[in-house]
Amino acid sequence: MISICGLGRGMRSLHTPEDFRLAARRRLPKGLFDFIDRGTEGEFALDRSRRAYDEMTLMPRALIDVSRRHVSIDLFGKKMAMPLAIAPTGAAGLLWHQGEIELARAARAEGIPFSVATGAITSLEEIAEKAGGRLWFQLYMWPDRSLSHELVHRAEAAGYEALIVTVDTVVTPNRSYNARNGFSIPMKANRRVVADLARRPGWLFGVMARYMLAGGMPRHENYPAALRVPITAGVVANPKNETLDWADLMQLRRLWKGPMIVKGILHPADARRAVDCGADGLIVSNHGGRNFDSAPAPLAILPPIVDVVNNRAAVMIDGGICRGSDIAKALALGATCALAGRLPLWGLAAGGEAGVARVLAMFREDLSRTLAFVGVTDPSSLRGVDRGISE
Ligand SMILES: Cc1cc2nc3c(=O)[nH]c(=O)nc-3n(C[C@H](O)[C@H](O)[C@H](O)COP(=O)(O)O)c2cc1C
Repeated sequence: MISICGLGRGMRSLHTPEDFRLAARRRLPKGLFDFIDRGTEGEFALDRSRRAYDEMTLMPRALIDVSRRHVSIDLFGKKMAMPLAIAPTGAAGLLWHQGEIELARAARAEGIPFSVATGAITSLEEIAEKAGGRLWFQLYMWPDRSLSHELVHRAEAAGYEALIVTVDTVVTPNRSYNARNGFSIPMKANRRVVADLARRPGWLFGVMARYMLAGGMPRHENYPAALRVPITAGVVANPKNETLDWADLMQLRRLWKGPMIVKGILHPADARRAVDCGADGLIVSNHGGRNFDSAPAPLAILPPIVDVVNNRAAVMIDGGICRGSDIAKALALGATCALAGRLPLWGLAAGGEAGVARVLAMFREDLSRTLAFVGVTDPSSLRGVDRGISE
């Protein structure tokens, strides 16, 4: 594990989630920063998801020996150094040259899983080869399902541990700020975008130029060969499929032998059905508030989902996780573990692997501190811990 003290000098001046966000904002073109930072429509889901953590309290307890505490858990029969995984984020490779490898290395050093997105810029095979560690593969479905099934076989051949099937992105979300600033993926080289990129020479030379020198414009290397075009080609190749249904999930269950995690579940009835279809894990998620602005906060909907799942699968959660105490709150309400999307990306944009390592160390140290304050010595004892409210 990398301790905070062992990190690069630049990272040592970053102490809070907002420090990392602002450091990322200074490095990235505005369009790219907004693409990662913001939500959808009025950004109510984004705000609601975060506020649910701010408004939840945990009751501190006194005079309990917590000196021998630890933050590790077991998931899918293996140890995780803390109850946190890095969520899949398609654009990570645009924030830092080969950003997915940097994220995976930091996750491996910390002893937690890293989720590789279908839309990664570096191929799932190269990430496995150069970073290793506990890797989960996130799958989107193309209208031609066989293209996605091919990816499942690739992930299996590369030794991925778990398959994450994302079910909450059947149509393109309405992100009007991207329409306004001209940014999209695939990127279109209009005047606004070119001017925006030119204002960030550090990013232009440190990220884009390195891809160009190493073989050309970045591409989504996991995409099927026919769709693997440069991200500036301007053609819409993103996988979206409005016809997905439960039969697709059952088919994936038959294809994938390892743990299958269904991501983007919010309705308890959907949670029950996903588990009935053979899911080993669920991620209670509104996609970080990026898709459907009327969606509830994942934390608010967690308890009924934990109830219906009734220990038949691991219930995970994401959306708004910024602190170790947020992880503790989710576990207090019955989650097995949490995932973080944006904060590791801010760490990546701020300092590559060292930045992500710093973010993960913050999560770990903060979670350990939270355990001590609430008087428990391991994450599993958080379940049902006193929240400090009279029911
Ligand atoms: C820039 C960005 C790209 C994302 N890309 C994907 C993706 O390709 N697949 C997916 O399942 N989720 C994707 N997500 C959603 C994350 O996996 C996760 O659900 C979300 O970021 C959690 O919220 P948080 O950012 O507040 O931690 C993306 C999120 C961000 C911020």
